[in-house]
Amino acid sequence: MSIVNPTSTILVTGGSGFMGSSFIRYLLGSSFFTGKIVNVDKLTYAGNKENLKLVENNPQYAFFQEDICNQGRIEEICQKENVNVIVHFAAETHVDNSIHDPKGFVQTNICGTFHLLEVVRKYPSIHFHQISTDEVFGDLPLEGKFKEESPYLPNSPYSASKAGADHLVRAYYKTYGLKVTVSHSCNNYGPYQFPEKFIPVVIERCLNNQPIPIYGDGSNIREWIFVEDHAEAVWRILERGTLGNTYNIGSGCEYTNLEVVRHIINIMANILEVPSKKLSSLMQFVPDRKGHDFRYSLDSTKIKQLSWQAKTSFLEGLQTTAEWYLQKFLAFSLKA
Ligand SMILES: NC(=O)c1ccc[n+]([C@@H]2O[C@H](COP(=O)([O-])OP(=O)(O)OC[C@H]3O[C@@H](n4cnc5c(N)ncnc54)[C@H](O)[C@@H]3O)[C@@H](O)[C@H]2O)c1
Repeated sequence: MSIVNPTSTILVTGGSGFMGSSFIRYLLGSSFFTGKIVNVDKLTYAGNKENLKLVENNPQYAFFQEDICNQGRIEEICQKENVNVIVHFAAETHVDNSIHDPKGFVQTNICGTFHLLEVVRKYPSIHFHQISTDEVFGDLPLEGKFKEESPYLPNSPYSASKAGADHLVRAYYKTYGLKVTVSHSCNNYGPYQFPEKFIPVVIERCLNNQPIPIYGDGSNIREWIFVEDHAEAVWRILERGTLGNTYNIGSGCEYTNLEVVRHIINIMANILEVPSKKLSSLMQFVPDRKGHDFRYSLDSTKIKQLSWQAKTSFLEGLQTTAEWYLQKFLAFSLKA
């Protein structure tokens, strides 16, 4: 039996952020989804209403500016909107910020998830989907992949706070029998990402002719998924997944940070019609991040059994992303 149906009312937390807004645009842009999306977002520095400009007047969409820690308000919204499913994206997400100031990460990522689960405990007909990360599993050497049942070994305050939230989700499933599912995604990239994260930083530095910072020697490896493929994967889990189960969402596209920078430089050199040597001279190696995980890689066999797999090649996705940031840059330059 399906967890959602196309007429469900889905409360998306953090829907004005990068991945949440992609999920909302995906559903509201589809012909199959005839239900309603209720976006609850506090609009921190990382949230942007502009990310959902395309859907803001859609009758299938409602927005509430709210903190997920405000349990009473979340409860009211669930009642008022007759929510059937919560898809929980809201989080503090930048690892570097978590190293400098972890408090907000514990508050939003752990306490915020606790408050949402308390709402679901009161209204147990609501299904709860937790958006988690591959980072909760710690890091890997050059070989091997994380499976859904790999042990949790988080290394940063960010990943530890996401791990804490995941443990609460599991406990509420086991203890109270709530209807839950969890997904662990690899690194997402694509349009609308806040320009503090690696790929938009590199693109924007190329556009502004500024130094491109690369941690350590650039050998750390990440698996990269185009954000629209991630949105489809989450929907597939809601459609075809099994209650109480966890699914890895990976693309199989693994690159060192140095390889990512080189690919972006080639794409940007082509777009800007400048020699790639000129952009390569912007590369600057900076001291490594504290506790920097060497490699993440997911075994995504389980979600493939739900007839999903990532469609976008890394180079194709990077090209789309670079062109999107260029348009944004040009629009901004014209306004200025
Ligand atoms: N970006 C990645 O590569 C990646 C990979 C795996 C998992 N994830 C997870 O996916 C989710 C979304 O990530 P993202 O990259 O879109 O993040 P993001 O930082 O772009 O967006 C987070 C959103 O949450 C909102 N938010 C923050 N605190 C809130 C609060 N207390 N109440 C309500 N809203 C709040 C922000 O305003 C913002 O709109 C997160 O849970 C993250 O841990 C991200």
